[in-house]
Amino acid sequence: MKKKIGVKVLGTGSCFPKKVITNVDLEKIVDTSDEWISTRTGIKERRMSEKDEPTSELALKASLEALKVAGISPKQIDIIIVATITPDMFFPSTACFLQAKLNILSVPAFDLSASCSGFIYGISVAKAFIESGFYKTILLVGADELTKITDWTDRSTCVLFGDGAGAMILSASESNEDILSVFLGADGSYSDLLFLPAGGTRSPATIDTVNEKLHTIKMRGQEVFRVAVPKMVLAAEKALEFSGKRVEDVKLFIPHQANMRIIEAVAKRIGISMDRVFVNIHKTGNISSATTITALDEAIKTGKLKVGDIVELVAFGGGFTWGATVLRV
Ligand code: UT7
Repeated sequence: MKKKIGVKVLGTGSCFPKKVITNVDLEKIVDTSDEWISTRTGIKERRMSEKDEPTSELALKASLEALKVAGISPKQIDIIIVATITPDMFFPSTACFLQAKLNILSVPAFDLSASCSGFIYGISVAKAFIESGFYKTILLVGADELTKITDWTDRSTCVLFGDGAGAMILSASESNEDILSVFLGADGSYSDLLFLPAGGTRSPATIDTVNEKLHTIKMRGQEVFRVAVPKMVLAAEKALEFSGKRVEDVKLFIPHQANMRIIEAVAKRIGISMDRVFVNIHKTGNISSATTITALDEAIKTGKLKVGDIVELVAFGGGFTWGATVLRV
């Protein structure tokens, strides 16, 4: 009988732009306060990319770090997947820009769009590629620059988002199975609660769409909040069930960092105490598909996770999309 191919996580890396925007900085541009932002969201500051620092640039730095940790060279990568909703351009894909920067020409590369759940969707695709025998070593990146699609006059959204990138190297293994389960979901009937209205084929860019700021994120926050909690709980519970693990087996729970109140509500409902929940929202804000992977990378770097620990990532975002994965570090 043919032996099942397992997946090993060889390494992770991350990159944040240097520029820090604090809540106090935001007080100077919109009618808001550090107190409102901190208590309603948990965010204190976020990182902002430079004009000449596109998503692929952050993706490159995160990838190089992940490659170094994995102890492999770019030439050993068989395929590149970049989860993003803020690509360098509509096309070519950010994955193609990254491929050229890594100088691994002819390696297949594509982008994946699933908003804040993008990295978890990417894990599912990478796992399937490896298990099918199609590819052995995969570079998976979650990278977003939400500050570049933010309306800086809209206080209800501009205080929430930031920029960053995280990367993971996954490889075929005969002895390991690090990705214990993945659960994904989506509901497109909610597409009008969190979206970017113009620039696509439904509403191509015109002077009017620019003047009306339709190339920036629109969100009905409270309604998003109401759906986010139960869907994240569902995803977390399903992924745990599929993995055969119990809540007690999970060393660290890494939820999407969109709002501290969402994180606390989800943790309470799945019965995990906050000391086992990873939170870095105060430093990063919401960085969409980069959130869970950069948080995982930080948890590893800071020693919160050790080799062999079980961790669960859970995300929710525009679409709506949601997903969770249970993995072994
Ligand atoms: O990553 C994808 C998923 N995204 C999310 O999960 C986001 C989910 N939603 C949220 O995190 C929250 O709904 C927000 C943080 C966006 C908003 O918090 P909220 O507690 O739902 O506030 P709200 O929208 O109900 O607004 C309450 C008040 C309003 O004023 P009035 O109408 O009560 O006078 C807003 O105009 O707060 C006002 N407000 C602000 N005040 C100061 C909204 N934004 C701000 C602000 N500063 N930045």
